[in-house]
Amino acid sequence: MVNFTLHNPVKLVFGKGMIAELKNLIPGGTKVLMTYGGGSIKKNGVYDQVRQALAGYDVVEFGGIEANPRYETCMKAAELAKKEKVGFLLAVGGGSVLDGTKFIAVAATYTAGDPWEIMEGRVPVKAALPLGAVMTLPATGSEMNTYSVISRDSIGEKLAFGSDHVYPKFSILDPETTFSLPLRQTENGIVDTWVHVMEQYMNDVECSALTSRLAESVLKTLVEMAPKVIAKPTDYNVRAELMWCATVGLNGWLGLGAAAQDWATHMIGHELTALYGLDHARTLAVIMPAVHRFQLKRKQARLAQFGTRVFHLVEGDEATRAAQAIDRMEAFFQSMEVPTRLLAYGIDAAVAGKQVAERLSKRGRKLGEYEDIGPVEVEAIMNLAK
Ligand code: NZQ
Ligand code: ZN
Repeated sequence: MVNFTLHNPVKLVFGKGMIAELKNLIPGGTKVLMTYGGGSIKKNGVYDQVRQALAGYDVVEFGGIEANPRYETCMKAAELAKKEKVGFLLAVGGGSVLDGTKFIAVAATYTAGDPWEIMEGRVPVKAALPLGAVMTLPATGSEMNTYSVISRDSIGEKLAFGSDHVYPKFSILDPETTFSLPLRQTENGIVDTWVHVMEQYMNDVECSALTSRLAESVLKTLVEMAPKVIAKPTDYNVRAELMWCATVGLNGWLGLGAAAQDWATHMIGHELTALYGLDHARTLAVIMPAVHRFQLKRKQARLAQFGTRVFHLVEGDEATRAAQAIDRMEAFFQSMEVPTRLLAYGIDAAVAGKQVAERLSKRGRKLGEYEDIGPVEVEAIMNLAK
């Protein structure tokens, strides 16, 4: 196990009716900018609950943050935050609204130039307005992490930044808010959570036995809950488990004690969303099995362990169980009718492989925990996903 420091300051406020706690979480007298997406919160009653909880606060609203939040939209919100001199940002919605709000929090205090420089990693984040969240979609873990992913369509980019300055001060997670999720978004959330866990777990480097078992527990819980949520989308306990899984999936715990993390699937996936507009989770379901097949030999022991502990594979030698484990993961995605091949989206693997390889080579960055997945390897991976 390698050394680590853990400090996650997010106050999680979990459960039924907890939106009412807002009044105890945002200091009285603070001017609040409430951000939201395309209107789901107005249909499912979350908007009304939030406005009721914020009675007595001076609230400015900014709606219309898109799925895969756009830089241009966030910049408009940052201008509004500056003009209105708000003291707190409250994101109400899914990961896109929260990611957008993290960027808005930074952009509203950034005076050194164009805040896109932060997305390009050219300048570090030095400040941000304080923010909190009411999360309505379990998937990204954004409610308890420092990351934000922003798209800029005009230049075809989708980039991520991370900074301790954008840890939410609090995140309210009421599983009832997720009853209204369309099946597609519920499934996307399960796949995204799954892949976050695997990006941290599936490495071939020194790691912790306890952290590994925590990761396997999240995966096993997802396998158990997926058919249940599809059968009964309003089962509170099932929704609650999925919400808790998503938070643990990417709040930092599952990387503790490991020497490195993979994240090749996400990096390739972000390029596919930027190029073809696929949902984030859907890119991951296509790419992750291919990444693991490409690295089958190197990751054999870990894949076999995953197969045995998560899917109870006991027959055959290590190589057999490792290969079966990937098949079972792919079958799990397919059991939710999430496609696992590029062809399902009408994407030509050879063409897309070249495009993604070119974009990654321009960034001059290699992927994976060994940073040895370059353009040639990316093309080979994409070919395995055809
Ligand atoms: O916009 P509204 O009307 O709110 O509708 C949303 C949106 O259309 C809808 N929705 C959300 N909660 C709902 C609901 N509909 C009904 N009932 C509810 N309770 O769902 C749609 C998708 O929402 P979105 O926020 O885009 O989904 P998600 O939470 O999956 O976020 C995806 C974004 O997060 C980024 C992705 O790249 C993508 O941009 N990621 C962020 C990460 C992070 N911050 O750590 C890590 C991830 O790997 C990921 O990259
Ligand atoms: Zn993700």
